[in-house]
Amino acid sequence: MTRSVLSVADLSADEIGQTLDLALETKRGRRTSAELAGKTALLIFQKPSLRTRVSFELAVSNLGGRPLYLSPPEVGLGERESPEDVGGVAGRYCDLIVCRTFDQSNLERLAASSGVPVVNALSDWEHPCQALADLLTIREHGGAKGRVLAYVGDGNNVARSLVLAACGEGMHVRLASPAGYELDAASVDAASQRADASGGSIVLLSDPSEAVASADVIYTDTWTSMGQELEATQRLEDFTGYQVNAELVAEASPAAVVMHCLPAHRGEEISDDVLDGPQSVVLDQAENRLHAQQALLAWLFSR
Ligand code: CP
Ligand code: NVA
Repeated sequence: MTRSVLSVADLSADEIGQTLDLALETKRGRRTSAELAGKTALLIFQKPSLRTRVSFELAVSNLGGRPLYLSPPEVGLGERESPEDVGGVAGRYCDLIVCRTFDQSNLERLAASSGVPVVNALSDWEHPCQALADLLTIREHGGAKGRVLAYVGDGNNVARSLVLAACGEGMHVRLASPAGYELDAASVDAASQRADASGGSIVLLSDPSEAVASADVIYTDTWTSMGQELEATQRLEDFTGYQVNAELVAEASPAAVVMHCLPAHRGEEISDDVLDGPQSVVLDQAENRLHAQQALLAWLFSR
């Protein structure tokens, strides 16, 4: 059966655990493999990218495959052609589609029409590959189970994927967002169900200090995601008081690590001294995109 990963929910908590095990083995040089030998991966990107594009191109190449990148103006997904027509054609040439898009339904339509696995490289709704890399990073920095993850900021695509994955790994998740920017109730419910099975928990708060008190991991993301640029001024105002800065980090566990998926809007959601400081693990996160995605693709194509 063709498996796609459009959302963290497409992977069970066990499958996420296995993928992370595989990623660690590969990262430590204990495993090489060629699950994509002779295969072509089409990378369709409707938004800009540094980490996701580079790490997917390398992951595909490392597994013996060939990446083929289509930039935003070349894609025309839903403009030049319908997602069904793009998917139908791509499925005749390629063995895998990796897609960064706005609307989550574009991913579903590509998966339904192409007949090949589709992997979400970020949509407005989710960023599942980021969440895999984040959990890999948390494993390397003290582990996930039973530890407290405080997410401070927008209840966005990154938050949605992160909390589902983290709750599946047994973390105690606290989300602090301003009114109107909370994670939606259905996503919180889904995370809560995974938490019930793993011994974790999830709670929605509004006070960043309450969220980070004695926390082991502090995570934030931009207040203005790609596609929301027209709301930037309003968002800057609405997120006042939600910056992850030295004062806030001092309220967490002294050993806490600070995470950010990048790109950062320095001086907005995070201060320079924290992003560049000793508790920041943002470059480990960025590196782990490669290891996590390589493991995910190896797992998808070894089944
Ligand atoms: N974190 C992340 O997805 O970065 P890019 O937008 O650069 O790919
Ligand atoms: N929430 C951000 C993440 C970027 C990696 C965005 O969607 O722009």
